[in-house]
Amino acid sequence: MLMTDRTKKVSTDEKKAVGEFAAGIVEDGMVVGLGTGSTTAYAIQALGRRVKEGLNIKGIPTSFQARMIAIECGVPLTILAQDPVVDIAIDGADQVDNDMFVIKGGGGAHTSEKIVACSARQFVVLVDEIKLLDILDHPVPLEVMPDALQLVERQVSELGGKPVLRMAIQKDGPVITDNGNCIIDADFGKIVKPDRLALDLSKCVGVIEHGIFDNAYKIFIGKTDGSIEVLTRKH
Ligand code: A5P
Repeated sequence: MLMTDRTKKVSTDEKKAVGEFAAGIVEDGMVVGLGTGSTTAYAIQALGRRVKEGLNIKGIPTSFQARMIAIECGVPLTILAQDPVVDIAIDGADQVDNDMFVIKGGGGAHTSEKIVACSARQFVVLVDEIKLLDILDHPVPLEVMPDALQLVERQVSELGGKPVLRMAIQKDGPVITDNGNCIIDADFGKIVKPDRLALDLSKCVGVIEHGIFDNAYKIFIGKTDGSIEVLTRKH
């Protein structure tokens, strides 16, 4: 099926290199979390090529987009109800800091992405080097139940953030997630304590999930010189 989506618009050599590198570490027999976004799309496509060569895996997609790409590429799929323990989850990110805190949700899929990442023995995050910062400052995506929009806006403001309702392109009104909810992008400027903010956002009534992830096991960074740098969690 033809789709217009972010995947087609923002491809770079670094994303392709890091996506294909990640596909290379997947082993026979694994259940693999398939993330969302343009970087992971390269990983799914590379996995599809490996499947055609005989690799035996099952993928768990984190979004409609990931499911469509996996089907197009011939990656066999399963669901968490069938395979609740994921061997490795591979996903992109919007920003990463040196302590391996990650902001996700640029594609509005972070709730499913977090469920799959937290079900995984290893959560591997793929970024190009421009996304690695000392201090995170990307707005934090919040998946919000439509009835709770005003309440969440108030709670975000009380936490010192600027809430912006994410609007759709080529559709009137807000972005609606795969789960039928809205997205608020909450701008907190420089996020000096991402662990504290994650805790505060978890307490906001009406927020289904926020986009701060603290469980990356490895970060693969695609560099402009073509190399891949690997950060590994030490504790
Ligand atoms: C999807 O909701 C996001 O978490 C993406 O994984 C993130 O926005 C990275 O996307 P790209 O790989 O397209 O930059």
